[in-house]
Formats: sequence, structure tokens, C-alpha cells
Amino acid sequence: MNVYDSARMADVLAPLGYQPVDDAAAADLIILNTCHIREKAAEKVYSDLGRLQLLKASRGHAAERAGGPLVAVAGCVAQAEGEEILRRAPYVDMVFGPQTYHRLPEMVARVARGAGTALDTEFPPEPKFDSLPLPAAVGTALAGGEVPAVTAFLTVQEGCDKFCTFCVVPYTRGPEYSRSVAAVEAEARALVARGAAELTLLGQNVNAYHGQEEAGTVVGLAGLIRRLARIDGLARIRYTTSHPRDVDDALIACHRDEAKLMPFLHLPVQSGSDRILSAMNRGHDVAEYRRTIDRLRAARPDLALSTDIIVGFPGETDADFEATLDLVREVTFASAFSFKFSARPGTPAALLDAQVPEALKDERLQTLQALLRAQQESFNRGMVGRVLPVLFERAARHPGQIAGRTPYLQAVHAQAPAAWIGTVHDVRILAVGPNSLTAAPVGGAESGPLAAPERISA
Ligand code: 5AD
Ligand code: SF4
Repeated sequence: MNVYDSARMADVLAPLGYQPVDDAAAADLIILNTCHIREKAAEKVYSDLGRLQLLKASRGHAAERAGGPLVAVAGCVAQAEGEEILRRAPYVDMVFGPQTYHRLPEMVARVARGAGTALDTEFPPEPKFDSLPLPAAVGTALAGGEVPAVTAFLTVQEGCDKFCTFCVVPYTRGPEYSRSVAAVEAEARALVARGAAELTLLGQNVNAYHGQEEAGTVVGLAGLIRRLARIDGLARIRYTTSHPRDVDDALIACHRDEAKLMPFLHLPVQSGSDRILSAMNRGHDVAEYRRTIDRLRAARPDLALSTDIIVGFPGETDADFEATLDLVREVTFASAFSFKFSARPGTPAALLDAQVPEALKDERLQTLQALLRAQQESFNRGMVGRVLPVLFERAARHPGQIAGRTPYLQAVHAQAPAAWIGTVHDVRILAVGPNSLTAAPVGGAESGPLAAPERISA
């Protein structure tokens, strides 16, 4: 979501003459868009700021020298630690949270005038989405020469009301909010018009989406996906991140019969122990998660899954951790993100006794990651020899090669025509490398001109 937010900040700033650059040293405005989810991410901000202070000192302050870099901290660290950032890094010009970046032009103007530092960590009554421009037409918000993206993110829902006891999101991103169907569709069409063939619908709790349609009726994520699936030129739809509690019948049906919806689902489970799930306030138990997976797989037998897992939640015993391993063995994931519990200020879990020692968390994480890695490798190996539809996204490093992704988000390299970029083509998977699959056009490159199947489906 921060990638999406950064792109929107670029869109907001474009009318002021700002364009993204690759090198911070060449920038007039540097925005650190930050994450507060775990301590490691949050601490990184201060080390990055230290480096920017040196850069800023070497180029002079904007208030004294036109063109000097303004430094801003955006995102959830800004939201959670606004005052603290200004105290620890007084050379920062702007601090603003994820709900106020539509006010960026005013902030920039104010600070550039020398009117002092801007701090904006409100949850404003006007939803920021109403004030954001549509994604810029081809090129304007992209760095020089960059090709518009074949895949794009689109935030449809923000915030969270679930209050898992370990999580800062409900505090930093605020309460759940769903954009209207019309607003989402307009943005989707703008993205497709500038070359996107795949959209990933984003939300902290994306399947809790409940947006108004033009007629005033409210639809869930399934209804939204069905609307977007009608857009010509849009080949693939994904969504992330979902909550197991909000996987409803309509969404399962959507996985069954909506060809543009990719058969790959990120469904965080966090733990395989009922005791821990309850302490986490997840609102479901292991049996319910299992049932949801069974129903999804019954609807879409080729569905692959990914998940998030936390090890070392306070009070997690060896038996709880074993239960997590058991669940992973049973479900089998095509990929997964796993984390050591990180005590976040202001969350209930940070105050629990029975914090798990760091060394034990490390040990559990290694054990879990070895299992998840083995599952991922086996999933990838299972692709060899198969024909898969790949959406090609860009030229690869080797001449004549292009790169794209399977329905399961696996990176693929293939010797194939550059004209395939931006479209879906069936390719045969030849081998599994450390970071990607290699593939060849179906029929082989020797069999005359490459037949380009124009099929756009999974
Ligand atoms: N400690 C460790 N991992 C966390 N996550 C969220 N909060 C914490 C925390 N305090 C993980 C969850 C979530 C993912 C985005 O980050 O697994 O699904
Ligand atoms: Fe955080 Fe997700 Fe739980 Fe919401 S549902 S509190 S975003 S982990």
C-alpha cells in the first residue's frame, strides 16, 4: 500500500512540477514513506534520516537556497511518531500521515515559503480519495523514459476495525473505509488506459470492502471484482490483504467463475494455535480457517495460497508453535511471509507478560521458514513441464528475454518477442531457478514465427 500511496503522492505533486527521480541527491523534495508495522521497519526511518541530514547539509536548506531538498516523512511512522520525529530530526520539513497526503501541495507551498515545519497527522473528515487526481496519463508521473507499468495497485479500502492485539494498523491507518464503486472503476479505467493489464486491489482488510454503487446499493469485494472484470484490456485481477473472517460465499463464488480473478490468494492465518489466535483477537479458530480453505479449493481446485505467520506471540508455547507447523504442513502454502512478534507501542500485546525470549523467536522463525521454503520450492518444481499463462511485464536483463508472472505470482523469464510485453501468453515452464522460472513459448521458438495466442485469461 505504501507503493500505491507513493505513486499517488507523485500524482498530487505533478501539477507543481515535481517528477520522480532515481537518485535522492538530485531531488528537490525527498519523501520517506514509512511503515510502522514492526520495530525494524520503524527504526530504519531514523537511520535513513541521518543520511538525508548529511545530504541536506551539503546542499543547503530550501529556505535559504532555492532548489535545496525539502525532506518529508510520510506514512505510518509519521502518523504514530510525528512529534518525536521532529524532535529527533529537526531538519525534517514535513511530517504527514497516510490520511493527509492529498494536502501535500499546501504543505510544500507553506514550507517552501519559509513558513515553518508542517505536521499533519489528522484523520480529516474529507476522505483523501475525493481530493486525489486520477492516476496521471502515460508518462507524466513517471521518471524520465520509464515505461508505464503493466501491473498496478489500486487501493479500494483502507484502515481496519479488527484490532488484532499485536497490530498498529487500526491506530495508524484509522477506521475501515471503502471507496465507492464508481471511484474505484474510474481509477481502474485510467490505469488500464495507460497500459495496466493487471490490477491488484489493495486494502488492509480488502475483503471487508463494502462500497456504494451508483444506485446507492452497497456491494462487497466480489461485487466490485465483477464490475472491474468487465473492463476491456484488463486481463488480471488480484486483491490483498484479506482476513479469514471476511471470506464470504460471494467471494468464493467469484473465485469459482470469474476468469480474470487469479487463482492465488494471500490469506493470513498468523498462528495455528486456537489459544494464540484467541489471544491475538483474530476472531476465528483453526478449524474455521481450514474450512474456509476447503471451500475455496472446492470452488477453485487450482487455487494456491500464501499467508502471514507470526512466531513468538506472548505466551506462545512449544505446543502452540507445533500446532502452527502442523497447520502449515496440512494446508501447504505456495509462498508465505513470516515474522517474529514485535511489541508495538500502544498495542495490547505489547503489555502482556510472558514475552517470548528473542533467541527462542529466532529458533522458531528458522524452523518455520525452512518448512515454508521447502513448500515453496516444491510448489515451483511442480510447474516444470506445465503450460501456464504468463503476463509479460518488461524486458529482462538478457537480450531477447522478457519477464513476467504466472497466475501464482511466480517470476518467469522467457526468450520471446518484446511485443508480448503487456499481454498474457501461454508458455511452457522449463526449469526452476533460484529466483524465477524459465519458460519457452509453446510450440518452441524453432517452429516458425511465434504464434501469439491472444487469449486473455487464466
Ligand atoms: N509483530 C510481528 N508481525 C506483525 N505483523 C503485524 N503486526 C506485527 C507485529 N507486531 C505481521 C502480520 C501481518 C503482516 C502484515 O505483518 O503477520 O499480517
Ligand atoms: Fe492488523 Fe490485519 Fe488484524 Fe487489522 S486485521 S488489526 S490490519 S492484522
